Amino acid sequence: MKKIIDFTVKENQLLNQDTVLLVLHSDELPPILPGQFVNVRVDKSPSTLLRRPISVHDVDGEKGLLYLYIKVVGCGTATLGELKPGEKLNIILPLGNSFKIPQDGKCLLIGGGCGVAPMLHLSRVMRSGGMDPVLLIGTRTQKEILRREEFEKYAKVYYTTEDGSYGEKGYPTQHSILKEHFDHIFCCGPEVMMKAVASYANKNNIDCQVSLENTMACGIGACLCCVTETTTGHKCVCTEGPIFNIKDLTWQI
Ligand SMILES: Cc1cc2nc3c(=O)[nH]c(=O)nc-3n(C[C@H](O)[C@H](O)[C@H](O)COP(=O)(O)OP(=O)(O)OC[C@H]3O[C@@H](n4cnc5c(N)ncnc54)[C@H](O)[C@@H]3O)c2cc1C
Ligand code: FES
Repeated sequence: MKKIIDFTVKENQLLNQDTVLLVLHSDELPPILPGQFVNVRVDKSPSTLLRRPISVHDVDGEKGLLYLYIKVVGCGTATLGELKPGEKLNIILPLGNSFKIPQDGKCLLIGGGCGVAPMLHLSRVMRSGGMDPVLLIGTRTQKEILRREEFEKYAKVYYTTEDGSYGEKGYPTQHSILKEHFDHIFCCGPEVMMKAVASYANKNNIDCQVSLENTMACGIGACLCCVTETTTGHKCVCTEGPIFNIKDLTWQI
């Protein structure tokens, strides 16, 4: 069930020049599935009238902790990046559907840029279910590879950077790990990257789920600003997504 909670900021870690990790606490933290997101009210930014959707990076249910991995791109995220320990943050959660975790088969998780955010929760849940996920992280440069030790706790991790400063040079779809056989792909990142991954999955007959990041407002299916076209009509990404199987999208891949 959805809740509106005033979280307390426990930590705000600057991960690089434009990315922060917010660690938030509440005694009322509800169960959250991998791939779900939250909608955050940004109180101290007068120009940020609407809440901002952010993926759940990870949760610690026992301690009541919620982790958000945020890249600063505008006023809303910049204001979130300035939060201090002890301050409150009003959040609606959990929102959206979740990644469908298969019973068996080899799983490849692909996160591009800050699309890597939901992959920590997903790989931790897969690992706790006895699976051995492989995670491929694609960034422009080494400076955007963040939280490496955390990801490597739960997944075998491979990297691509566009400038070759870390891992293999190029895009995730060019990494040599793709020569191995995978049964399922889970992907989040820029749309151009997700379409390239979807095309690879389609050609190789691999089941593939992608997490869409359409612009959102209400986050609860009321304003219709987030709709995407699917094979069965228009759907709200905030309620019927953000996770879609590529077979259900009308992408030309
Ligand atoms: C389901 C979902 C999950 C998301 N998860 C995360 C996350 O875990 N971490 C994270 O850092 N960001 C995430 N985003 C993107 C985040 O919501 C936007 O970056 C944020 O709303 C921008 O707000 P702003 O006020 O800082 O910028 P604005 O001033 O609103 O916009 C600044 C710039 O960012 C672009 N922008 C705005 N919204 C988006 C978007 N949805 N996708 C891409 N570009 C956008 C705008 O076009 C503009 O160029 C997610 C978005 C969705 C829909
Ligand atoms: S954001 Fe309002 S309907 Fe999806």
